[in-house]
Amino acid sequence: MVAIAFYSITGQTKRFIDKTGLDAHQISDASPKYDMGEHYILVVPAYQDFMMDSVVNFLTYKDNKKNIIGIIGCGNRNFNDLFAQTAKKIAATLNVPILYLLEFSGTDEDVRNVRKIVHDLSSGQSTKKVQKPKELHGNISFLSNYRD
Ligand SMILES: Cc1cc2nc3c(=O)[nH]c(=O)nc-3n(C[C@H](O)[C@H](O)[C@H](O)COP(=O)(O)O)c2cc1C
Repeated sequence: MVAIAFYSITGQTKRFIDKTGLDAHQISDASPKYDMGEHYILVVPAYQDFMMDSVVNFLTYKDNKKNIIGIIGCGNRNFNDLFAQTAKKIAATLNVPILYLLEFSGTDEDVRNVRKIVHDLSSGQSTKKVQKPKELHGNISFLSNYRD
């Protein structure tokens, strides 16, 4: 099964990961520098950039930036254009596809969809075949200067 790394501040993303039953590494604020050492999917909630230091420290450690094969973004659609902004910024910066977007700890349908995406990627299916979230079809005008 393809590896997963996730970050969670208030616990919603962790609840989502737990519901999927998938093994995953939780990026920790105390020691974010953890080497994934293999291809993986990153699951991140959305916050302002300054709250994402641990994720940046994780991404810039060893080959973690190179090993990401896809991103799943969590957020809250009330943020409108900024919905899932962190996933969108990392995807644009690292040129990695967004595989799925969901709110809070996800619905039962989100759990099913993400399990299918992870299983398909684990069996060698290309991320090009994953249906892209509808929010990504328009312009993403706020993509700015996510730190490398
Ligand atoms: C201070 C703060 C800022 C947030 N900013 C955004 C945002 O810009 N875009 C978004 O989609 N959601 C935003 N959210 C919602 C969270 O991303 C969402 O609740 C997510 O599920 C939290 O995941 P976590 O509990 O794993 O940290 C924000 C929440 C808080 C508390």
